Amino acid sequence: MQRIAIFASGTGTNAERIMAHFRGHPHIGVSLVLSNKKHAPVLQKAADANVESLTFGRDEFYSGHSVNDALEEKQIDLIVLAGFMWLIPASLIHAYRDRIINIHPALLPKFGGKGMYGMHVHRAVRQAAETETGITIHLVNEEYDKGRILFQARCGIDAEDTPDTIAKKVHRLEYAHFAEQIERFLT
Ligand code: GRF
Repeated sequence: MQRIAIFASGTGTNAERIMAHFRGHPHIGVSLVLSNKKHAPVLQKAADANVESLTFGRDEFYSGHSVNDALEEKQIDLIVLAGFMWLIPASLIHAYRDRIINIHPALLPKFGGKGMYGMHVHRAVRQAAETETGITIHLVNEEYDKGRILFQARCGIDAEDTPDTIAKKVHRLEYAHFAEQIERFLT
């Protein structure tokens, strides 16, 4: 059995789909959802899917042991970042070298780096008058959005698209590919 932990800070619609994708899977399962936000909607989604969850504060994440202990206790093989907003500490990157996957809502290396998250990305894409955008699924290393790219998918941007409509198109790509690419990575 390969066990996944999902880190998410917000709504968790990607996390929800990943949990659903692996429900009943013979070799892969989601064992834990972790969040830096006590009231993140993703926590209810985890409860609905019967997946245990854990929340933590900044000090605990960067100097404490509870996150590492929980990952060890659950024998986690792969960490998936699905809308997780904090930089992963070096200790966790070392412990899970090449076993942390992130999804970024643009075509890296464009529109990545610190501050490039959520609607900031889609606004920047619109402002740059790009004709396409997409998703990047990549490994996580010590720098924001710089790890090895595993997969990209694209969508066109029309003249009438707004940051909101771009976000919708990108979310559709995320839902279509993220869980499948995680499965591919693990098999
Ligand atoms: C997604 O667009 C993801 O690419 C980004 O954060 C968003 C999370 O959305 N990193 P949700 O919480 O999965 O709905």
